[in-house]
Amino acid sequence: MSTWIDVAAEADLFDDCGIAVPLAGREVALFRIDGQVWATDNQCSHGDARLCEGFVEGHEVECPFHQGRFDVRTGAATCGPATEPVRSWPVKIEGGRVFLQDAP
Ligand code: FES
Repeated sequence: MSTWIDVAAEADLFDDCGIAVPLAGREVALFRIDGQVWATDNQCSHGDARLCEGFVEGHEVECPFHQGRFDVRTGAATCGPATEPVRSWPVKIEGGRVFLQDAP
C-alpha cells in the first residue's frame, strides 16, 4: 500500500536548487526545475554525498564529491563515476504543499 506524505511547502523550493527532506527514515532531495518538482534519494549511489548540495543543470544534478550526475526525473546515473541509479519518488503538489508517495 502506498501513502502520500506531506514533506515540504512549495514555497521552500527555488528553481535549480535542491533541498533535503526526511521521509521514512531516509533523506530525499527535492529539486524544482522549470516550475516542476522532482524527488530522488539524497544520498549519492557512489558515496556519502548529499545530492541536494549538487549543481543543477537542465534536469541533471551533479554530485558535489566526484561530479557523477543523475537525471532527477528518473534517478538514472548519467555520468561517471556514478553508475548505479538513485531512487526517484512520485511527487504531487496540492494546496501549496509537496507530497511524496511512499511505497515499499
Ligand atoms: Fe557522488 Fe562519488 S560520491 S559521485
